[in-house]
Amino acid sequence: MSFYVTTPIYYVNAEPHLGHAYSTIAADVLARHMRQRGEDVFFLTGTDEHGEPVAQAAEAQGVSPRELADRNAQRFLDMAGRVNATNDFFIRTSDPRHHAAVQRVLQTVYDRGYVYEGTYEGWYCPRCADFKTDAELIDGNRCPIHLIELEREKEDNYFFKLSAFQEKLEQLYADRPEFVGPQVRYNEALSFIKGGLNDVSLTRARLRWGVTVPWDESQVFYVWFDALLNYYTALTYARADEDLTATFWPADVHLIGKDILKFHTVFWPALLMAAGIEVPKRVFVHGFLLIDDKKMSKSLGNVIDPFMVIDLYGVDALRYYLVAAVGFGQDGNVSTADVEARYDAELANQYGNLASRTFGMTSRYRDGVVPDARIDPQLGTDLVDLAERVRAHFDAIELTQGLAAVWGVVRRLNQYVQDRAPWKLAK
Ligand code: MSP
Repeated sequence: MSFYVTTPIYYVNAEPHLGHAYSTIAADVLARHMRQRGEDVFFLTGTDEHGEPVAQAAEAQGVSPRELADRNAQRFLDMAGRVNATNDFFIRTSDPRHHAAVQRVLQTVYDRGYVYEGTYEGWYCPRCADFKTDAELIDGNRCPIHLIELEREKEDNYFFKLSAFQEKLEQLYADRPEFVGPQVRYNEALSFIKGGLNDVSLTRARLRWGVTVPWDESQVFYVWFDALLNYYTALTYARADEDLTATFWPADVHLIGKDILKFHTVFWPALLMAAGIEVPKRVFVHGFLLIDDKKMSKSLGNVIDPFMVIDLYGVDALRYYLVAAVGFGQDGNVSTADVEARYDAELANQYGNLASRTFGMTSRYRDGVVPDARIDPQLGTDLVDLAERVRAHFDAIELTQGLAAVWGVVRRLNQYVQDRAPWKLAK
């Protein structure tokens, strides 16, 4: 069976931090697990290179958007390598092949009558690349996320008829309760839909850095539509002589952070419906890594550098830590002190002791050969049961529970080995 998993594509307006590494590592854990199960896996990650977030950061640094994109895309590519991600492709949305595929799909949406010309008037946050309602603002004109003052915008552009998909989306959610997980995010997305959908800007007239609108070359597509389409376009050109769409679409799961829920659970399925393309099977939303209860983010300046943690503790310790320390789907505090504490207590003491006792005894008492063991009935049941439980947890994308199940058995095994003093095992 095929299995297609994706991470969000990361903005190249800044360098990667541990929050980005978290999504990539989680997707990789899932991809490796599915490969071990014998599935035909395609794992996609990459960078989101257009839009105001990148154009404005480039301007502030006095470089062109392309220069900034090239520099930081390399950093995200390095990050995927350093965290040992086994992605099958790394998409960059500035790739002309992506542009061409985006134009094809959105031209279809236009041809099917889901696009019209209009005037946008309201608030827009260039850092979020998102339109804001009056109710969302703080102090009357500030972005609730970036806290920067926003300007009111008035611009002629093309709109996507999101409102035409109200009923179809409600039907999708009713038919497929697993479409969004965990449940709390499903509820959040559905209540957003039930609150009533307004049409959204599909293009930007002022910006040049993006994918050109084929029916009006004076505009570019709004970055979110270009970005979301990466999940689909990548399959068309990731392999030189093969279109992978028939094998891997619809995606099995898009893993995302909760900050981009609306785009993935409302805009994205509606856009696909408008284009006549199947919607993904599942969107799974993880929580935020927090530092002292605040979201780790570039804007707040409280980021941990994943490269530094890897240099200090090694990549496997980091991967283990991130999955173990934060319940997958929930927010959780992280710190380098906590990485160290878990490293000592769990990896070195529990797992390390089990491994070294087992290896030590095998070499001392069994000539280094793993003997045919008479498995303790209780442990035997544990192990068989463990395989089933891990499978079920990973099917439900409960990565942390999957790991916890393994730990339960590791602890019991450790106790088991400890209880059987070496002399009892003498030849
Ligand atoms: N470019 C858009 C996504 C487009 S997907 C079609 C974007 N990029 S981003 O660089 O801001 O990265 C957002 C993603 O990075 C989040 O959805 C999440 O997966 C991850 N994280 C960023 N900060 C994070 C934390 N503090 N904690 C956990 N994940 C975080 O939005």
